[in-house]
Amino acid sequence: MGLFSIFTKEIAIDLGTANTVILQNNQVVVDEPSIIAIDQKTKEVKAVGKKALMMHGKTPEGIRTIRPLRDGVIADFQSTELMLREFIKMTSNKGHFLPPALKMVICIPSGITEVEERAVRDSAEQAGAKDVRLIQEPMAAAIGIGIDVLAACGNMIIDIGGGTAEIAVISLGGITTFKSVKVAGDRFNSDIQEYMRKKHNIAIGEPTAEQIKINVGSAVEDLENPPADYEFYGRNLLTGVPTAVKVNYREVAQAIDRSIAQIETAVINALENTPPELSADIYKTGIYLAGGGSLLRGLDKRLAKKTTLDVHVAEDPLKAVARGTAISLKNFDKFPFLMK
Ligand SMILES: Nc1ncnc2c1ncn2[C@@H]1O[C@H](COP(=O)(O)OP(=O)(O)O)[C@@H](O)[C@H]1O
Ligand SMILES: [Mg+2]
Repeated sequence: MGLFSIFTKEIAIDLGTANTVILQNNQVVVDEPSIIAIDQKTKEVKAVGKKALMMHGKTPEGIRTIRPLRDGVIADFQSTELMLREFIKMTSNKGHFLPPALKMVICIPSGITEVEERAVRDSAEQAGAKDVRLIQEPMAAAIGIGIDVLAACGNMIIDIGGGTAEIAVISLGGITTFKSVKVAGDRFNSDIQEYMRKKHNIAIGEPTAEQIKINVGSAVEDLENPPADYEFYGRNLLTGVPTAVKVNYREVAQAIDRSIAQIETAVINALENTPPELSADIYKTGIYLAGGGSLLRGLDKRLAKKTTLDVHVAEDPLKAVARGTAISLKNFDKFPFLMK
């Protein structure tokens, strides 16, 4: 540890709509869902992250769970700030004999406005940050995947998170083509909820829909290695009684088909709007997928078929953005695209 690190603590934050990941000294020190539980009356923070998620959909009156970044926009400045502050508190001050100066790079969803950007920065400063840079999500994802973003070569990244799917073409350290749609993991969950209500007359909460997606989620109806059917519980809408239902991956593929098609359209649209020289590069390199949504079974194959390009899924896609943000922290003064 250098002398400097006694005075400065450096952290990289991936502030995602679904999950917040913080890296410190190349280690994941926070990996929590972006959710906070607040007492409505006293405004006191009851829980953040996993603890708050466990309360989601089960809170007594007076306590509310909030996902402050839900749709890729900051729905609620105050809860964003409270949440960010709690997460920063979870990072270590080990090795510092005084409260260290905080230096950080924060990755934000690209769709957020300047005002919201300001809010994130303010929250970070409120939480003790002295030096903050922001980075856009597709850029961080590209770096995390291992792409040389400064090279004169076009690369297409699709980052499918909780609230948004972001499609970007990156070349020479900049984003040349960008498209964001509010169709991602959360939408797949609500599609599954709607499908269960209409097809099976059964009401399920968001956490159950999420479990169905993770266990038997699929973007296609012809998987080579299909997962075993999944049993879940919900409330029968006709009898009002809790009921068990089995679901297979084909049903989930049907439930989310329209949403996947919307992402496909956005990808085609982004390809059409890509300058020809960069297009030629993408033809050779293919498309890179990151974000939790890229874990959906068969999504890579479906996109490959639609675009006729090679599609590569990032290694550990849920952490690609955080890795890229941490690499940017090491290049704090070198990467031109970090926003002061
Ligand atoms: N195995 C999986 N299959 C499909 N979706 C998944 C899987 N694992 C996580 N997800 C989804 O990925 C999304 C979170 O991805 P993430 O990249 O962390 O999002 P964000 O950057 O918006 O926080 C959630 O909607 C979650 O349900
Ligand atoms: Mg993300």
